[in-house]
Amino acid sequence: MRVKHPIQYLRVSLLNKCNLNCFYCRPQNEKEVPEWNRSNPDKCKQALSLLYSMGVRKIRFTGGEPTLYKELPDLITFSKSLGPDVKSALTSNGILLAKLAPELRLAGLDSVNISIDTLDPTKFTSITSRDYLDRVLDGITCAKEYIPEVKLNTVVMKGVNDDEVANLIEFANSMKVNIRFIEYMPSRTGTPHYKYISGNEIRNSLPYEFSALGQSGASAARYYKANNLDIKVGFINPVSHSFCNNCNRLRLAADGKLYGCLFDGRNINLFELLEQDDIKAQQETIKLVNDKQFQGCSGVASSQDNLPSFLEMGG
Ligand code: 5AD
Repeated sequence: MRVKHPIQYLRVSLLNKCNLNCFYCRPQNEKEVPEWNRSNPDKCKQALSLLYSMGVRKIRFTGGEPTLYKELPDLITFSKSLGPDVKSALTSNGILLAKLAPELRLAGLDSVNISIDTLDPTKFTSITSRDYLDRVLDGITCAKEYIPEVKLNTVVMKGVNDDEVANLIEFANSMKVNIRFIEYMPSRTGTPHYKYISGNEIRNSLPYEFSALGQSGASAARYYKANNLDIKVGFINPVSHSFCNNCNRLRLAADGKLYGCLFDGRNINLFELLEQDDIKAQQETIKLVNDKQFQGCSGVASSQDNLPSFLEMGG
C-alpha cells in the first residue's frame, strides 16, 4: 500500500493546556473543555520517526501552548536529528518566548508563528482573559533576536479586532516581521458565526495598494506586498477560499490520535498502534492519508461531534 498524496507537513499538539483563555479557541461550554492531556515524549518521538520515514519534512509543534511542555526543546532537537532536510516550527502565544527563545534556538528551532490579535491591552484582556500583552510584545522582540524566522498570526473577528488590522500591519512592519490575517473559523465548540469576516473584505478595507505575490508551495497564506511596507502581508482564508486541494498536512494530538484534517473527526491512535506493531501503524497511517478529503471540508465542522476543539489542535 502506498500514499497517493505525499504528506510533508505534520502539526503536533503537545498538550491541551494554555496560559491564555481566548474565547474563540477554548470551548464555550465548560463541559466541552477536554480533560487535561499531554503527549508522551517517547511515544511522540516514535511517531515522528515513522512519519519522517513516510515523507514528513516540516514539523510544527502546537498545543494548547507548546512552550508549557517541558520536553519541547528535546523534541525540537529530536526532529532536527531525523534528517538535515527537516524544518522545525512552533506556533505560540509568545508569553514565554522572552524566556525560552535562546534555548529553543539552541535546540534547533527554525521558525515561530506568534499569535497576536490586538495591540490594545484592554482588548487583549477581554479576548484572552489575561493581562499579558506586554509579555507577548517582549516575546516577539526576543523571538526576533534568536529565531531565524518569525511570523505573526492574527485571527480577525468582526466587531472585535477588525478595526485594528492596519495598526497590526504597521506594528509588524516596525518589527520587520511578516504578518498573516486568519479568517475566524466557526468550530463545534467555539463562538458564533456572526463574528466571521472574509479575508478579501479585510484586505479591501485597508489603506494599502497591495500587489499579490505568487503562492509559495503548499502555504495556506496568500501574500501581498505594498510599496510603503517592508514586510509581506498574508491572508489565510480557509472559510472563503478553502485550500484543501493542496493541503499536505497531518495532525497528531496529545493523546496520540492522528487526524487528516481539522474538520474531519476520523482518526487513528498512532501511539497505541506503535505499541502493537510498526508495520500496522504504517499501514493505518497510509489508509488515513489516502482517505483524507481534498475538497472543501471546512463546512463539515459543526455537524461532527467527535471533532477536537481548537484548544486541542492549535488551529
Ligand atoms: N479560527 C481561526 N483560527 C483559530 N485558531 C484558534 N481558534 C481559531 C478559530 N476559531 C488558531 C489561531 C491561533 C492559533 C493558536 O489557533 O491561528 O493563533
